[in-house]
Amino acid sequence: MKRIVIEGGTPLRGIVHTSGAKNAVLPIIAASLLAQGEFTIYDTPWLADVETMCELLDSLGVSSDFQDNILRIDTANLQKTEAHYDCVRKMRASFLVMGPLLAKYGHAKISLPGGCAIGSRPIDLHLKGFEALGAKVTFGDGYIVAQAAKLKGNKIYLDFPSVGATENIMMAASLAEGHTVIENAAEEPEIVDLSNFLNAMGAKIKGAGTSVIRIEGVDSLSAIRHTVIPDRIEAGSFMVAAAITKSDVLITNIIDEHLKSVAAKLQDAGVNVDISYDGVRIQGTGEIYPVDLKTLPYPGFPTDMQAQFMALLTLARGTSIVTETVFENRFMHVPELRKMGADIRIEDRSAVISGVERLQGADVRSTDLRAGAALVIAGLAADGITRVSHIHHILRGYENFCEKLMALGAKVKMVDEP
Ligand code: EPZ
Repeated sequence: MKRIVIEGGTPLRGIVHTSGAKNAVLPIIAASLLAQGEFTIYDTPWLADVETMCELLDSLGVSSDFQDNILRIDTANLQKTEAHYDCVRKMRASFLVMGPLLAKYGHAKISLPGGCAIGSRPIDLHLKGFEALGAKVTFGDGYIVAQAAKLKGNKIYLDFPSVGATENIMMAASLAEGHTVIENAAEEPEIVDLSNFLNAMGAKIKGAGTSVIRIEGVDSLSAIRHTVIPDRIEAGSFMVAAAITKSDVLITNIIDEHLKSVAAKLQDAGVNVDISYDGVRIQGTGEIYPVDLKTLPYPGFPTDMQAQFMALLTLARGTSIVTETVFENRFMHVPELRKMGADIRIEDRSAVISGVERLQGADVRSTDLRAGAALVIAGLAADGITRVSHIHHILRGYENFCEKLMALGAKVKMVDEP
């Protein structure tokens, strides 16, 4: 089994370059199904999730090629509009191909996406959107089928500002007849990047990044070139890694606007944060102050940074309260952090973290992507050796994670142990 082994206690030093955003490139790859032709997508991170999405496209007859962070997709020979269980099982984001296939080909058959460690992850809001656009949605033997001769624009209110539902509906509406309004839409930067990608293809979308998105349907879209925005969650993870190890690290290739809430929370915790349009310098100082944080849809504090920030707070001088409002079960990292000596108790949707002097290295298990990153981050500060197992979760979302940490001086390595 592959593990990441960390010897804690070494401060980091140097510069780390943020890769392209996983949660931007996945919907963008799905959106390429809305047009026939050759796409070129720059700053694509090479991640397990990107590979899975390309495998899914391959199963539809769409070819792709990845080299030097450039992803080329040719959708001209699409043969099928059915996404196989094997792909969807591996990654919930596979479901993002439903909107494009439905809009472009009038049919999509997708295996039901499983839940995962962080919650049930329903898709009711996606389906509500498709039905509002006139699609007929049916279920059968573990698949969902959506069909429509031609989608028609409509007004859709999302009970929750779901990122995936906003993306799927926005993609479907871009080829619908007439006007669509998505209200209570998600405002994440990845939605804006997808909207920019679609508009460059010829779509007519306004308001992405706000809670009301307006889409004027068009007859057809074209293949384009696009550069993916930087990954704000990867950047945030390295900011926290620098803070917990009391290091001096510069993180480049960022969009400072996207990191406002994380930077503000780190400053509240006593960390020196010097952020500008193209980089953020973190200088960990003497001590970490306790802070209370609540995860919220963007622009609130991101749920995808909750586990990493909790790792930092385990060493704060006092008690912090972390409340997770987005997912119903995103504290799987708590029992693992406790193995390292953290003092955390869970009360409903909040975790109460009483800071301790030191963490001790331990054998821990990565239960999901961000929990895994949090455990590596805790291991960087812990006394002794931490061995993180089930690291396939981490490799889904962090490009060259170990290499980037080693380049900063961390004593980290990936090993294959029985
Ligand atoms: C996206 O997931 C991200 N993934 C997640 O990042 C991120 O945590 C999440 O948005 C929230 O920001 C990608 O972009 C590929 P949601 P998504 O739909 O779209 C409920 C990571 O670590 N909901 O906004 O699946 C749902 O149960 C991953 O990179 C419904 O009830 O998230 C959850 O409680 C993890 N019905 C909440 O909304 C629906 O139809 C947020 O889900 C859809 C969602």
